[in-house]
Amino acid sequence: MNSIHPVNVGLLGIGTVGGGAYTVLARNAEEIARRAGRPIKVSIVADRDIKRARSLVGCSCQVTDDPFVVVGDPAVDVVVELIGGYTAARELVMRAIENGKHVVTANKALLALYGNEIFAAAQQKGVIVAFEAAVAGGVPIIKALREGLAANRIEWAAGIINGTTNFILSEMREKGLPFAEVLSEAQRLGYAEADPTFDIEGIDAAHKATLIAAIAFGIPVQFDKAHVEGITKLEAIDIRYAGQLGYRIKLLGIAKCRQDGVELRVHPALVPEKRLIANVEGAMNAVLVKGDAIGLTLYYGKGAGAEPTASAVIADLVDVTRAATIDPDNRVPHLAFQADQLRDLVILPIEEAETAFYLRLTVEDKPGVLADITRIMANEEISIDAMLQKEPEEDEGTADIIMLTHVCREKQANAAIGRIEALSSVRNSVTKIRLENLQ
Ligand code: NDP
Ligand code: HSE
Repeated sequence: MNSIHPVNVGLLGIGTVGGGAYTVLARNAEEIARRAGRPIKVSIVADRDIKRARSLVGCSCQVTDDPFVVVGDPAVDVVVELIGGYTAARELVMRAIENGKHVVTANKALLALYGNEIFAAAQQKGVIVAFEAAVAGGVPIIKALREGLAANRIEWAAGIINGTTNFILSEMREKGLPFAEVLSEAQRLGYAEADPTFDIEGIDAAHKATLIAAIAFGIPVQFDKAHVEGITKLEAIDIRYAGQLGYRIKLLGIAKCRQDGVELRVHPALVPEKRLIANVEGAMNAVLVKGDAIGLTLYYGKGAGAEPTASAVIADLVDVTRAATIDPDNRVPHLAFQADQLRDLVILPIEEAETAFYLRLTVEDKPGVLADITRIMANEEISIDAMLQKEPEEDEGTADIIMLTHVCREKQANAAIGRIEALSSVRNSVTKIRLENLQ
């Protein structure tokens, strides 16, 4: 094997994931070469911090602070982009493709925004853009959707695809810790994005859900059409009430294919605590996929961190090494479906989403109030699944009402909420959290 010409990798960024990829490639070099059929070797690394990069790689390869040297290096076969962000990364990836190099990236933000132009350029040039690490870190969900489930009509996928927010929600629920403290810990552990707003506002999960939807349903990437809500507005009281009703609150990324279009949404949701996915805690990720032939499948593992993410990056490198010699028209397509077979399904507005709801409101504790509320729900044709009344600790004379609904359209729920909030006996605005049964 050692006499075979190695695949030369140009590594852009040797931070958390780049460092992990370098380490695992070196540690498991022999095992990886036995699988790939050729050794895979980092021949050049670019990073802003040239001193740190040099201290990590020693004299094993060339180091530069100019990433354009890497994408222009004729000796490089595959560019591994691990710098993150959209601006430089987009230019570098496009330049690498122009130069006929295969690309491996973990950059979901880049692909969710510019994936269509990147995949089209790669298709035209006959090179591969592989991105297993971009969704759920080390969990091979892209491979499963694109290859393992190729027989199926995918009905929906729903997942915990942001480790930072799952870590925050778990710690808040289990240890009663405040939000800010848990976020700092997630940053210290290397789970959070460079800008943690991407994590806590649901943007990172929406980048990933956008890629899942594209691969699951054979549609272009359309991040701009996703409905995105994060966890910053979640209140501890709702986590508690959800628990009392037998549910956990998770930030879910959901892609659902309906006859009239695709639901693409990220938001906190109540999930029955008896579901396996409701018990995915800490920074772990899990994705449930429903296919018409296989039924439900669940993929679980570490969605972030140096070596778990490197595991997916290197799996892509092995795939690229194996596939590089195959006729480009016969390779696994970037978005699972052949490039000329992508469908133009509409992404539905959130008002058209079909889901159940958790509604919480504070009302005057007097006769007739519940009747008024249930009448409004009935008029909007929303069926109530469960109801709970609680005395708030401080405010005597009021009661918290918590309702769980059956599935309805979001616009029905919004109409009912508007009418409930207009009742004089209702003290505050209604808290609405979606509820997903995931069956
Ligand atoms: P890091 O910030 O740890 O590493 C990025 C490295 O690239 C840093 O050393 C950075 O230097 C360097 N860099 C950034 N821009 C340039 C540039 N223009 N030229 C040269 N060097 C540059 O990021 P991560 O490793 O955490 O993330 C990398 C990618 O992987 C991102 O797209 C991220 O979303 C994705 N990802 C990360 C996961 C994780 O667990 N961390 C999991 C899954 C995906 P400097 O620090 O000086 O800017
Ligand atoms: N910030 C991301 C997370 C990293 O917390 O899941 C993995 O994509």
